Amino acid sequence: MRRLLEYLANPPVWAVAAHRRAHRLWLRNHRLAALLVAAWARVLTGVDIHPGATIGRRLEIGHGVGLVIGASAEIGDDCELLHGVTLGRKHGVVLPDGRRHPRLGHRVEVGAHAVLLGPITVGDDAKIGAAAVVLNDVPARWTAVGNPARLLPPKAQRAPDGPAAVARDLAQE
Ligand SMILES: CC(C)(COP(=O)(O)OP(=O)(O)OC[C@H]1O[C@@H](n2cnc3c(N)ncnc32)[C@H](O)[C@@H]1OP(=O)(O)O)[C@@H](O)C(=O)NCCC(=O)NCCS
Repeated sequence: MRRLLEYLANPPVWAVAAHRRAHRLWLRNHRLAALLVAAWARVLTGVDIHPGATIGRRLEIGHGVGLVIGASAEIGDDCELLHGVTLGRKHGVVLPDGRRHPRLGHRVEVGAHAVLLGPITVGDDAKIGAAAVVLNDVPARWTAVGNPARLLPPKAQRAPDGPAAVARDLAQE
């Protein structure tokens, strides 16, 4: 019971619950009511999720403040987004189906203050580093870091002597 109360005393949990409510209203075309629920949730939690966004099960939001999720964004199940993340649109880029915002697969982790722009697709189990600026698709299980983001393959496919090579270079300086 105590653990449940501690879980509920967590503003990002309120933000996701409010979004579920707002999204249902949005889908029933009660758009003003949906926007009001979303606006109230933003005031209470600092998390700004447009009611049109589609969010899968068990989304985890860390800290939450400054998180922005745009209207046509799609998020799969079991994703984790940290504070300051933006899933936004890139001006003038719209897919034929109207999508303007990123689509995340399942189990995607997005680090603090990462910015993902446009109707890009991030595959299942991908990771986005803190403060990355991602403008292109990220394949499943790959990691994107930096600004503009560069892509890193899954760890098992990276050069096995990467850190050793760095240590050798440092020793030679
Ligand atoms: C990207 C991340 C998930 C690590 O992924 P990883 O696959 O384990 O990456 P590694 O640590 O092996 O680093 C691989 C390369 O990416 C670089 N890198 C890692 N994180 C980075 C970041 N956020 N920004 C820029 N470069 C980064 C490393 O320096 C390394 O560079 P190199 O190839 O030139 O040596 C992690 O660094 C990260 O940013 N997590 C988010 C954590 C967060 O937001 N915390 C806030 C808590 S409140």
